[in-house]
Amino acid sequence: MHLSHLRLRDFRNYARLDADFAPGFHLLLGDNAQGKTNILEAIYLMATLRSFRGVGSAQMIRHGAKGYFVGGNVVGQGDREIKMYWSARERNLALDGQPVKKLADYLGALRTVVFCTEDLQLVKGAARSRRRFLDLLLAQTQPGYLPLLQRYMHCVRTRNALLKQRTTDEAALASFSTELVKLGNDIIRARRELVPKFSPLARLAYRRISNDAEELRIEYAPSVKNDFAVELAQARAREKSFRATLVGPHRDDVQLLLNEKSAAQFGSEGQKRTLAIALKMAQAEYLAGIHGTAPILLIDDVMGELDVKRRSGLLPLLEHARKTSGQVFMTCTEENWPSELGKDLHRWQVQTGMLKKI
Ligand SMILES: Nc1ncnc2c1ncn2[C@@H]1O[C@H](COP(=O)(O)OP(=O)(O)O)[C@@H](O)[C@H]1O
Ligand SMILES: [Mg+2]
Repeated sequence: MHLSHLRLRDFRNYARLDADFAPGFHLLLGDNAQGKTNILEAIYLMATLRSFRGVGSAQMIRHGAKGYFVGGNVVGQGDREIKMYWSARERNLALDGQPVKKLADYLGALRTVVFCTEDLQLVKGAARSRRRFLDLLLAQTQPGYLPLLQRYMHCVRTRNALLKQRTTDEAALASFSTELVKLGNDIIRARRELVPKFSPLARLAYRRISNDAEELRIEYAPSVKNDFAVELAQARAREKSFRATLVGPHRDDVQLLLNEKSAAQFGSEGQKRTLAIALKMAQAEYLAGIHGTAPILLIDDVMGELDVKRRSGLLPLLEHARKTSGQVFMTCTEENWPSELGKDLHRWQVQTGMLKKI
């Protein structure tokens, strides 16, 4: 799968951009604050409909403009054309000229995996980042997962609103509890099945980057231990005082263990960084395995942060992407670009919201 064309209008610091990209390796070079990461953000936005910087759409509109347009052509199993426009008043998303009605039909048109400094939150951050990671992986591989998750989260919010009322509407609460358990069990099942399939890939990736330093194990840590309905009923008294839904997959976590010890608690900075990258590498490999084509890799500055030893662990993945006519976009400054990647690269100069082929 590769992005053959990218078109931006009033997106971040790009007033207009039209660029053609071949398959293979693209190096985006430039000084700080020129718009390198913004390109990756736009590509990721088309793939997932959100920013990997965790900001809302309004922030991505070029200062002074009304709305942004991001579009592109994806060559994979066939040709796809993506067009998205966002303003405070109007949102449009079209695939091959047709408005997108169901997200499940859209996701998958473009698949990406991003490597960025925020990835460290997967290891260090709250459980939410790890749930998101699992959810993205499931959304990228199972068409029904995202709608299921959205229905479940809607149910949690409605139920929380009921619990916050001065006198609880018991009948309504009971019906939302039933719905919560039904949807929640499907989410739990999907996550429980995913983790053991994903874990060996992450373990191998970690070994590769760390030169067999420690053994990684990933374990699903669900909020529900046995029976969701029973545990929800048991939490009723606590829910009364907290006025919120206290058990369910919206409270799940994933444990990351290095030699059987929590990486977040006992890992060094270097180990945490290695682990974050290993998780992303495993994500890319998992997607490639399921779909038969590698996702587009978006690598933001991380190579510059890695020492040479750890960099070499990433190289096989990049080589593989190149061989299978996949695509990689990597941002760097002139000083720290990884010359060990060789000469077979497309190099682009990024300067004040413009992209020029070198
Ligand atoms: N909504 C926006 N409108 C206009 N410019 C923006 C917007 N958001 C960010 N920028 C500009 O984009 C530049 C940062 O782009 P970025 O891609 O993060 O740089 P880098 O090349 O360091 O990765 C800065 O100059 C910033 O002012
Ligand atoms: Mg940047």
